[in-house]
Amino acid sequence: MTDVLARYEALVAAGELRPDPDQRATVGRLAELGRQFETQPNKGSVLWRMLKKPPPSPRGLYMWGGVGRGKSMMMDLFFDCVDTPSKRRVHFHEFMLEIHDRLRVERTKEKGDPIPPVVDAVAAEAKLLCFDEMVVNNMADAAILSRLFTGLIDAGVTVVTTSNRPPDDLYKDGLNRQLFLPFIALIKDRLDVLCLNGPVDYRLERLGGFPTWYSPNGQASTQALSKAFFRLTDYPPEDAAHVPSAELAVPGGRTIHVPKSLKGVAVFSFKRLCSEARGAADYLAIARNYHTVFIVGIPILGPDNRNEAARFKVLIDALYEHKVKLLATADAEPIVLYPEGDGAFEFERTVSRLMEMQSQDYLAAGHGE
Ligand SMILES: Nc1ncnc2c1ncn2[C@@H]1O[C@H](COP(=O)(O)OP(=O)(O)O)[C@@H](O)[C@H]1O
Ligand SMILES: [Mg+2]
Repeated sequence: MTDVLARYEALVAAGELRPDPDQRATVGRLAELGRQFETQPNKGSVLWRMLKKPPPSPRGLYMWGGVGRGKSMMMDLFFDCVDTPSKRRVHFHEFMLEIHDRLRVERTKEKGDPIPPVVDAVAAEAKLLCFDEMVVNNMADAAILSRLFTGLIDAGVTVVTTSNRPPDDLYKDGLNRQLFLPFIALIKDRLDVLCLNGPVDYRLERLGGFPTWYSPNGQASTQALSKAFFRLTDYPPEDAAHVPSAELAVPGGRTIHVPKSLKGVAVFSFKRLCSEARGAADYLAIARNYHTVFIVGIPILGPDNRNEAARFKVLIDALYEHKVKLLATADAEPIVLYPEGDGAFEFERTVSRLMEMQSQDYLAAGHGE
């Protein structure tokens, strides 16, 4: 294991990260977890075989705090440093979709309670599970989380997660919340809860008061956007040609190709998002999985582009409702994007959202809140 604290300090020394005592303490805790993880007793050892249970997993972590405090950054650093093949990092929402899929398959087997076999399968795949952006906003998740995570931790899985909320605020005001309370108790009992709510929102700082809407389309706008991308992701601009892409799963079995996908930031062309047959499910998947979306090449739309305009409207609604930050290059300011054509009147709401999405208040809001 590369020591995560050493890695963090090297980034601070290099000026990539600003010194932050809360972060340093958290990374120290992560470093300790990394060491525990790597010196775990061998689960095949005689003792544990005799006891017929796996050795207890090192105690995991629940890191919560406002947006831009570096939670995901620290978790990713930790994840990179832990030297084991038995690890998995996944966006929480995506993980839960997968769990529901697996539960559906188990139910068709009609062998009773579907949760234990799903727990076993997940625990067999990874002993370290890192979740980004834990949030609970539907009853289907709320109803199973306690049993799912009790099972995972009992099976020797270590859980590390980030969230914008303290445990007590998860699924706040949710339906049948009393059924969810055991999950909150579980978090407090089995994980270390760390609060990261320092004064600085580093993401906002990196957006740095720069405009988020660039027009007209062209080299200057593209360059400005690409600078913003490298500022947000810390990816070396000289490696621009190698920024990773991704295939994002959409419920229903389709996928969306994300041409650039890094640290919760996605880059798309307008064409890919709105000129192909896409719909609300695609846009919701994007909105849930990325905290920041770049759209390049938004044209001025006319009466012949009513399909593109309608899709763009659904896309912006999804991004707006999930407080996804939008950076874009376009041929014009929002107000003159779709002056006439079917639905141009309804498009006014899109315009107003696009304007609001450029405001400091919007940019400071947490993803998905
Ligand atoms: N100490 C720091 N100094 C400079 N930038 C930082 C620092 N901590 C985090 N960042 C940057 O701020 C941005 C937001 O961090 P992120 O981990 O996404 O925050 P969170 O997950 O808490 O919302 C990222 O670009 C990250 O690299
Ligand atoms: Mg984050």
